Amino acid sequence: MTTLDALFTVKGKVVAITGGGGAIGQASALLLSSAGATVALLDRNLAAAQEGQRKVEDQGGNAMALECDITSPEQVKQAFASVLTQHQRLDVLVNNAALVRRVPALDTTLAEWREVMDVNLNAAFVCSTEAARHMRDGGAIINLASIMGVSGGGAYPIASYHASKGGLINLTRALAVEWAHMKIRVNAIAPTWVRTEFTKALLDDPKVSSELLKLMPMRQFAETQDVAAAVLYLASPASRMVTGHVLAVDGGYLAS
Ligand SMILES: NC(=O)c1ccc[n+]([C@@H]2O[C@H](COP(=O)([O-])OP(=O)(O)OC[C@H]3O[C@@H](n4cnc5c(N)ncnc54)[C@H](O)[C@@H]3O)[C@@H](O)[C@H]2O)c1
Repeated sequence: MTTLDALFTVKGKVVAITGGGGAIGQASALLLSSAGATVALLDRNLAAAQEGQRKVEDQGGNAMALECDITSPEQVKQAFASVLTQHQRLDVLVNNAALVRRVPALDTTLAEWREVMDVNLNAAFVCSTEAARHMRDGGAIINLASIMGVSGGGAYPIASYHASKGGLINLTRALAVEWAHMKIRVNAIAPTWVRTEFTKALLDDPKVSSELLKLMPMRQFAETQDVAAAVLYLASPASRMVTGHVLAVDGGYLAS
């Protein structure tokens, strides 16, 4: 019989999380760890990754922190090699690192456009292919996209981010189909606004924040734990028949 624990366990799995030192990265690491996984937090900000590692260890889990700028294919290769050396396997990759430039399209320089694409899309491709080469018993890749990856709207201009997350979503579908025979499931999550460093400048402004809430049928922003719960679902056997899917964690934003 399938028990609740067996459905949502990641016991014995090794998970790599890019941007693992960030808010959603840390929340995901903590939840995956409490469900039995060993987590590797990759971040260009080593201190942030180490903070995540400490929090996981404080709750009795197993974690490692690695300094890695995911826009460098050499650093990505090196980081995955360290995970493999330490733990001999890799089962789950969470492509979570990202950056945003809230600049009108007409004022966006090509350098800014490329910077966003490089982190949000190109690096996710590099990390995914590197991870897939090491996944021996199948695996799961979870891409942190956004409501902005499936819509063109919002309350401020952000075209480079829209494009990068839209690309990430269709990369999700393409890899899901291409790697299904390898038993690697590839899914995306499309969160609405979550209160983190990423959105601080917006959500700390009461005027902007109340405008954004009007776009949300549930009239509330998401918490990091809401996104982490989706990560756990997509990493666990509960979602064993789910691949190429975009799971909105958005309080109804995309339905409206
Ligand atoms: N916060 C939100 O409202 C929101 C909404 C929708 C989607 N998302 C997505 O969720 C993910 C996590 O967002 P968050 O709110 O936790 O952000 P965050 O700013 O708290 O964390 C992002 C982390 O990524 C790291 N990072 C950035 N560039 C990197 C690089 N080149 N190499 C390695 N690490 C790098 C940063 O150091 C940081 O620790 C992102 O993909 C974001 O697009 C966030």
